[in-house]
Amino acid sequence: MTQDELKQAVAKAAMAYIQPMLEADTIVGVGTGSTANLFIDELAKHKGLFDGTVASSEASAERLKKHGIPVYDLNSVDSIRVYVDGADESNDNLHLIKGGGAALTREKIVAACSDEFVCIADESKLVKVLGDFPLPVEIIPMARGHVARELVKLGGDPVYREGVVTDNGNHILDVYNLEILDPIALEKSIDGIVGVVTNGLFAKRSADVLLLATKEGIKTLK
Ligand code: 5RP
Repeated sequence: MTQDELKQAVAKAAMAYIQPMLEADTIVGVGTGSTANLFIDELAKHKGLFDGTVASSEASAERLKKHGIPVYDLNSVDSIRVYVDGADESNDNLHLIKGGGAALTREKIVAACSDEFVCIADESKLVKVLGDFPLPVEIIPMARGHVARELVKLGGDPVYREGVVTDNGNHILDVYNLEILDPIALEKSIDGIVGVVTNGLFAKRSADVLLLATKEGIKTLK
């Protein structure tokens, strides 16, 4: 199976996983990226079974609206029953690196507001130690130099993601060469740097479930 076929399979599996949760007033949180896009296409086949969605990016909101699925402002909903999103890496504890698509801040906000976070990924994303994938950090533009120097002190090699402006009007540093042995501690340390908006470690609020597409079928990790 190709990586695209694995992503398709896990998008379908996510739809089957959340279907029992759907009621007329259910709000579904929707992530960002190529796997999340395939999930949106699956969700569209079931519109009418739930109220609507909250999207973690302008791109996902646009795709949802094209399918005729309602997209609500987060501040106008009381709760999100389930959040479905991809990841760039996951370890066995379902601590994630996210933000390859630069949507990490809104993703982290939607994840924080959701009763359950279902991560969907193909098997290439499961790793023993996080950090082969460069860790995205969203920053206030004027703080770029300061944040970069602080990230070097933490052992990383930050690289400015040229030409990228997030949905929040900010910039991204991708931090290379981190061997992330304590994801919760590193997430807290980076959050403590003045000028950082969000970092792409989802460890304090990890995924609750990882649906992993493998050549042998879908595996469910909790
Ligand atoms: C976007 C993300 C995505 O979930 C992550 O980059 C995975 O993307 P894909 O499903 O395209 O591999 O965090 O900010």
